[in-house]
Order: sequence, then structure tokens, then C-alpha cells
Amino acid sequence: MIRSLRGMNDTLDIEDSQRFSYFIQTATRIAKNYGFRFIETPQLEETALFKRSVGESSDIVGKEMYQFTDKGKNDVCLRPEGTAGVVRAFVQNKYDRQDTVQRLFYHGTMFRYERPQKGRLRQFHQFGCESFGESNILEDASLILMVRDIFSALGINFTLKLNSLGDQNCMPAYRDSLVSFLQKHQEEICEDCQRRKSTNPIRVLDCKNSHCQDIYANAPKLMQNLCEECDTDFKALSSILDEHGMAYEIDTHLVRGLDYYSKTAFEFISTEIGAQSAIAGGGRYDRLVEFLDGRATPAIGFAIGIERLMELIQMPEISREGYYFGAMDENSIHTIYAIGMKKRVSDKVTIGYKARNLKAHLKASDKANAQYCVILGENELNNGTLWVKDLLNKTEFEIPQKEF
Ligand code: HAM
Repeated sequence: MIRSLRGMNDTLDIEDSQRFSYFIQTATRIAKNYGFRFIETPQLEETALFKRSVGESSDIVGKEMYQFTDKGKNDVCLRPEGTAGVVRAFVQNKYDRQDTVQRLFYHGTMFRYERPQKGRLRQFHQFGCESFGESNILEDASLILMVRDIFSALGINFTLKLNSLGDQNCMPAYRDSLVSFLQKHQEEICEDCQRRKSTNPIRVLDCKNSHCQDIYANAPKLMQNLCEECDTDFKALSSILDEHGMAYEIDTHLVRGLDYYSKTAFEFISTEIGAQSAIAGGGRYDRLVEFLDGRATPAIGFAIGIERLMELIQMPEISREGYYFGAMDENSIHTIYAIGMKKRVSDKVTIGYKARNLKAHLKASDKANAQYCVILGENELNNGTLWVKDLLNKTEFEIPQKEF
């Protein structure tokens, strides 16, 4: 038997597939309420796109990409995340030259060659939003509050971690002071951090090694070294979130695994799903449009990891819905099929293709979760009627076939 690849799952289980659709429906509705419209970008892009955006020193680009040379000898890879492709589309289609705010949402599969475990897959789904052209801190607040609204609508508990990663005014000086600190602890830090020290020093701050973490507790903090603009923005964001009753924890070690961020960075965490606890992450990336050859455009976004929510989503009770049509003898199958097909234009319909007795049809309509079981038997055929049972209200009646 040929099996699916490791870390790549089917969404076949009925509850999972219902939860998945319910999530997309709910998140789409809320994103539209916040003024976002749908964008679809390819799953395969030039490898250079991710190297230049996510960053060569990130784990994603360094270790986790599904990268290959296609038949046309192009260096391509399956997208590990959605932001880079959306920014590429934004620049390629010259939206950076229009002086308007663009708010875009997407959902789809992402690919990272990570070690699979609970909540960590090699093919997974994200729902993401990217907002271009708005530097106002109210936009940062809106995106965070939008994630809150999505999780609240789904009955998901979370905590929010918030940080500021500074900008080109304050980050370079901070990086230098961090490197000096790391130099002093050169012998004590892990090999990965020694490498990060020269490739992307701030990434040491989210090292998983507890010994390194003990050392970094005394590292200089960017939060205390922000330039005036970043400091004012961060304080303004905190106070807007306070006004909207959105609790958060400031985490000065939250640096995110992708290189394109500046200023606001955030992560939503669930304590109910084990080690892979980040259910959404995002932040500002005011320089990325420029890095990808566009006109300088402030931008901010987030992505939610859909698989990690599967156990957490609380589905509303799905009441019985639509119709089940069945015939009791072979000669009536095509008549009931035609009636059912007409009804399908407006309602959810299941049609029994085999002649069966009433009991079997009632059982089948129950299984189909239909509200109405509609039967064509011999009597009804002679009278030009249909027998109907309302399985929700437990009533039975006969109606003329014409009425369907
Ligand atoms: P990210 O933090 O890498 O950010 O991913 C966002 C979310 O995707 C994570 O919080 C997690 O829920 C989910 N996720 C990531 N990797 C996996 C995996 N291997 N298996 C299952 N779920 C996973 C980004 O991707 C950025 N593009 C977010 C963003 C949008 N920033 C600005 N705009």
C-alpha cells in the first residue's frame, strides 16, 4: 500500500473536515468585516523569493525548504509561508504604486521539512492576512484584535505575547550591544547560538536551550533601547489593547523565526495543545516591500496555523439540514431522482439510489442528518403525492409532487 508522506495528512475524518470548513468560514467572515479581500498566490515560487524575505539565516530557509530544480532548470521551492508570495504579487502587480491601503487574506498549504510531531507537520495550512500601506499603530491593534475575534468566535482560549523588534534606527545599535554580550559568553552558549551570533544575533533570544536562556536573562533588552518612534508606537499599541480589554504579556525574547520583521511582533499561544503551542504569529514588516524591489510601503500581517486549532475549535451544534429523497420500488427511482435534483438547486439534498423499505430510508435520512425524509411509494405514485417525515419536529404529512 502506498502511504502519504511523513508529516502530510489527509483531512478526511468527518469532524476534522467540518471543523476545517467552519474555521475557514468564520475567519473569512471576520477578515471581510475588517476590510480584507481574498488573494491566492502560487504554492511554488522561485527559491530566491524566500531567501530574500524570510532570510538566509532563518531555520526555514536554512534547513526546512522543499527546494528543487524543475524541468526548466529553475531553482524553485514549495512555499514555507504565505507572506513572501503575497508581497511578491503586490509588487509584481504594481500595487505598491497605487496610493491606497490594500488588505489581503489567504489560506492554503505551506510546506516545511521539519521533524514531524504533534502540531508540527511538513504540509500544513495557514490562514493569513497582510495589510499594506498603513503605518498607523491602529492597524497593528486592529490585526491583533482581529485574531482575537477569530479565536473568540471559535471558542479558543489563548494568551498573547507582544514585543517590539525596533527599526533601522534602534536595531543596529542593539544588535551590536547584544553581540558584545554574546562575545563575553562565547564559551558558554550552544553551538547554534555561536553560529547565530554572526548570522542573525537576535535569534539567540529564542534559543530552546535552557542553559542559553539562563545566560540571556541578563542580556541587554531591546525594549529598553528602542528609539523614540518605536517606543511611542509600542506604548500607544499597548494602551489601545488595554482600552479594548485585550490582555497581553510583553515578551522581550519574542523574536519570531523569520527575518523580515520590525517594530510590532506578536504570537498567540494556546496552553491546551502541547509543545507546539503557537497558534498564530505575525508582526510589522515595513521594509520587506522594498527588499523585494517595490516602493517603500509599510506593512503588517499574521498567519494562523489551522491544524493546531483542530482540537480547540468548538463547533456549534449542527442541526438537521435539508432533504433525503428515497423511492420504495425500482420504477420510481428516476422520478424521485428528478425531484431531488430540482430541490438541490436551493437545498442540501441526499438521494437514495436504491429502492428500499421505509425503515431503511428513515435510517439513511438520519445518517445523512437530513431534516426531511421524502418518500415515493406505490400509493404516492398513484396519487401524485410524496410522503414526508420532518425528523426535527417529528411530524409526518403528504404533499403533492408538484409542490417540490
Ligand atoms: P509563523 O510563525 O512561521 O509565521 O507561522 C504562523 C503559524 O503557522 C504558527 O504560529 C503555527 O500555528 C503555524 N505553523 C508553522 N509551522 C507549522 C508546522 N510545521 N506545522 C503546523 N503548523 C505550523 C509565518 O508564517 C508568517 N508568514 C506570519 C506573518 C504573516 N507575518 C506577517 N504576516
